[in-house]
Amino acid sequence: MKKYDYLIVGSGLFGSVFAHEAAKRGKRCLVIDKRPHAGGNIYCGRKEGINIHQYGAHIFHTNDKSIWEYVNSFVEFNRYTNSPIAFYKNEVYNMPFNMNTFFQLWGVKTPREAKEIIRKQIDSLDIKEPANLEEQALSLVGVDIYEKLIKGYTEKQWGRPATQLPAFIIKRLPVRLTYDNNYFTDRYQGIPIGGYNKLTEGLLKGIELQLGVDYFEHRKQFDALANYTVFTGKIDQYYHYRYGQLQYRSLRFEHQTLDTDNYQGNAVVNYTEAEVPYTRIIEHKHFEFGTQPKTVITKEYPEEWTANKEPYYPINDERNNTIFKKYKALADKETDVIFGGRLAEYKYYDMHQIIGSALKKVSGHFDAPVLQTCSNF
Ligand code: FDA
Repeated sequence: MKKYDYLIVGSGLFGSVFAHEAAKRGKRCLVIDKRPHAGGNIYCGRKEGINIHQYGAHIFHTNDKSIWEYVNSFVEFNRYTNSPIAFYKNEVYNMPFNMNTFFQLWGVKTPREAKEIIRKQIDSLDIKEPANLEEQALSLVGVDIYEKLIKGYTEKQWGRPATQLPAFIIKRLPVRLTYDNNYFTDRYQGIPIGGYNKLTEGLLKGIELQLGVDYFEHRKQFDALANYTVFTGKIDQYYHYRYGQLQYRSLRFEHQTLDTDNYQGNAVVNYTEAEVPYTRIIEHKHFEFGTQPKTVITKEYPEEWTANKEPYYPINDERNNTIFKKYKALADKETDVIFGGRLAEYKYYDMHQIIGSALKKVSGHFDAPVLQTCSNF
């Protein structure tokens, strides 16, 4: 008999939820991770008594009550509401685009006036079939919003001029004709009180965990240990890159401790002009209404991805999607390997989606459904 029922490669949200649900059903699980900590990208470091979102700002939001109750059963969430600010040159704007933004842009106070300005700007451009991202954005929101709040930010994010980016990247650009700065429209939103590590710790409580071990360095030994493998790493690597490498965008985070109690007055400030090299500054204490005497900020720089960098955002263009489909066809044939999570599925997922997808895979794998109301998947 093998020592474990499940070897779970990756202690991110997908692996942790899967491990928790399997252990709850009496299965013997071993979770491994190549990083020195559990939690994957939701991991929080700690400095000056402040939880630091080490791999980028993470704000939990969902419309699914069962998922909200699920996460709150491990750790209580606070009432944080994401209301980012955009700095463009010397101007300050509320995000997402709403009546506050339109007042700041044009001095208009009513939805009718704002709608009229946007409509006139769109009509004057007369774009019938947007050929690229720039034309797509212009045809949705007009020139002012595009130039000040979209162009520079998007070009930094993708490392290319907006005229060289495909139109499909931007499908919708919601224009909100109310004075509402709440970025998300989901019913539930917040940050775990005490940080995301509490969620990970709750999920992995009582489960064997080995950190700092790369599955690929000891693949044979690990495979021999368990009946099933749950793999949440890169799917192309799992198959030795036989169809080629999947591409990503990466990010570089520059963390700084500052001797002030409040640097920017908001957790998330976007820098939308091209001349500033980072896309945003995160001031972590504001996620948890911190009152510490010092503060920690993180500047986020988008970067080209190379094999030695963290793969953050999949580039779901035609080339990569075609390659991914080939890997997925192999994965679908596996009988004792379960692939899940953002790297194995080569897809950007929000946290609530990852949880929903892990619960769905669990309930598909074991007979009894776990959450009847997980409707998003
Ligand atoms: P994740 O990457 O977290 O975990 C995979 C784990 O597998 C990692 O710990 C890795 O080390 C390990 N691993 C990989 N290969 C291995 C190997 N060979 N051997 C051993 N271990 C291996 N979502 C949201 O809802 N709100 C938000 O605000 C944000 N913000 C955000 C910002 C940024 C910059 C990004 C990139 C993403 C977000 N997200 C988000 C998305 C969120 O991060 C995402 O949904 C989950 O963290 C994905 O969890 P996974 O378990 O799939 O991957």
